[in-house]
Amino acid sequence: MPSLPSPALAYRLEAARAVVHDAARLAMSMRPPPGGPQGELKSAQDWLTETDGAVEAFIAQRMQALFPEDGFQGEEGGISRTGSLRWVVDPIDGTSNYARGRCRWCVSLGLMDGDEPVAGVIDAPALGEVYTALRGYGAFLNGKPIKASPIRDPARSMIEMGWSGRVPKPVFMEKMDAIMALGTMPRSGGCGALALADVASGRLDGYIEIVINLWDVAAALPLLAEAGAVVSPFLQNGGLTGGATILAANPYIGPVLAEAVSIPLK
Ligand code: IPD
Repeated sequence: MPSLPSPALAYRLEAARAVVHDAARLAMSMRPPPGGPQGELKSAQDWLTETDGAVEAFIAQRMQALFPEDGFQGEEGGISRTGSLRWVVDPIDGTSNYARGRCRWCVSLGLMDGDEPVAGVIDAPALGEVYTALRGYGAFLNGKPIKASPIRDPARSMIEMGWSGRVPKPVFMEKMDAIMALGTMPRSGGCGALALADVASGRLDGYIEIVINLWDVAAALPLLAEAGAVVSPFLQNGGLTGGATILAANPYIGPVLAEAVSIPLK
């Protein structure tokens, strides 16, 4: 019989789920209609909407009221509080989709214990999907357990690679070329957190992003670990303090993909 989770962590996961639910409703209420992007550019093709700030402020305030001793880090506001437990939020991941009234975006809230990701909630309200995970106690999509896909043959696999202006075009093209040379089906959906959640649920066999940030992946890391996916050492390779590379995949495709794109799993 598995031991019970620490009450402090179990309570935090439940609280996070409720707060993110309310934050996701706020994001839905502010969602732009389908059409050209509504927002401003932070840098090339890197969008910021009014909702990013509103959702981050909402979550920061609610978490401070509930857990004043916990640290807090947001995509927009950086580290505003410190603590041995630290919440890491991406208020809208997939902002470029959100800004055009598309559906593929989410609110992502991860919990770190020191440098260890221990829990995560990813709520994608336009898709009607909520992912939750607590280290040692499983990964779930809308309350049902999920696991990484059993696909072993790259020629039957679907691999996503995230794109951002942070990556020089030749590097992106070289990795994409290596992925496609394996015979895989490529994807690029514009929401790193949901792509990693797709690896955890078996909807994708692998996800690669050359430069991605902690707030994009913090909630997904416990999901991936609990779902049996393999993940390159993102945190150890600079992800705690800046942009770093991530490769996440099912355990069969992972080693093949890692070798093909030269992103070690260890
Ligand atoms: C971005 C998305 C995108 C990924 C970028 C992220 P944002 O986050 O996750 O898919 O490729 O690296 O910056 O800006 O929508 O929060």
